[in-house]
Amino acid sequence: MQEIIEKINKLKKEKKAIILAHCYQNVEIDLVADYVGDSLGLSKIAAKTDAKIIVFAGVYFMAETAKILSPDKKVLLPNLNSGCQMANMIDSKRMKEFKDKYPGVPVVCYVNSTAEVKALADICCTSSNAVDIVRSLGVKKVLFAPDCYLGSWVAKKLPEVEIISYNGFCPTHLRLMPDEIKKMRILYPDAAVLLHPECHREAVKLADFVGSTTQIMQYCEKSKKKTFLIGTEKGVVDRLSRDLPEKEFILITDRLICHNMKYNTLEDILHVLETGENEVFVEENLRKAALCAIERMVECRV
Ligand code: 13P
Ligand code: SF4
Repeated sequence: MQEIIEKINKLKKEKKAIILAHCYQNVEIDLVADYVGDSLGLSKIAAKTDAKIIVFAGVYFMAETAKILSPDKKVLLPNLNSGCQMANMIDSKRMKEFKDKYPGVPVVCYVNSTAEVKALADICCTSSNAVDIVRSLGVKKVLFAPDCYLGSWVAKKLPEVEIISYNGFCPTHLRLMPDEIKKMRILYPDAAVLLHPECHREAVKLADFVGSTTQIMQYCEKSKKKTFLIGTEKGVVDRLSRDLPEKEFILITDRLICHNMKYNTLEDILHVLETGENEVFVEENLRKAALCAIERMVECRV
């Protein structure tokens, strides 16, 4: 492994490349990553980096978002199998049908979506800023796509806004059953329960804290608790266990694995750096349209 890491680091310097990694990636990817974080943090870095090449160790929509924000850079996805099942639940045709049912209602689009869907939205959001983004619009009614569970979470936090959600979902987070949380609470009565807002609404009701991957990690760092029951993808538990060895982190169910996130390997990263293969492209008119919604989110001061 050390040999691959050295080759990657050498090529990174030679080619002026940076490696961005989402915290659901295989944990060894961090050994070569320049930044590891959640979707929002990584988008902000992609928008301002002066690197020539961005290797995005994440899923396709994340690499595509980086390309939309940084069109002059070469954006490479280490393994093209890395797609997001939620993002693939809506395309431009379905988004248009959804919008046509509610003419004039502003559309908030979760970044877990394709460029063609973002292009039809007024503003994007991520799991870390969804509540703030909807609040910032100052309207009474909002269309929210594609995740109906994140939509429900926002609605719970902002009862004054009517949220009409598309019926997309994350198959990974929905594997977490409310009963599993209840059982784990009995086994670990002193533990804090932390969940991602993509989880089922009945599961979210049982959490002590609900937030994006980075927000969950920050909560664990600051908390005085010693044990944490984690309801998001396994990569978060792997990183927390590595970074905070004095605390205990337990994945509530071992079914919380996003297999699509696990395709990228160190070998794939080396391969794309060597060959320039797996470049992500976005057609220019589409890019500009999607950029409006992403920029509004990145610039939103909330
Ligand atoms: P974050 O917004 O926390 O990065 O999550 C992205 C994601 O894909 C969750 O399933
Ligand atoms: Fe998509 Fe769910 Fe995987 Fe996140 S965990 S990338 S929403 S399938």
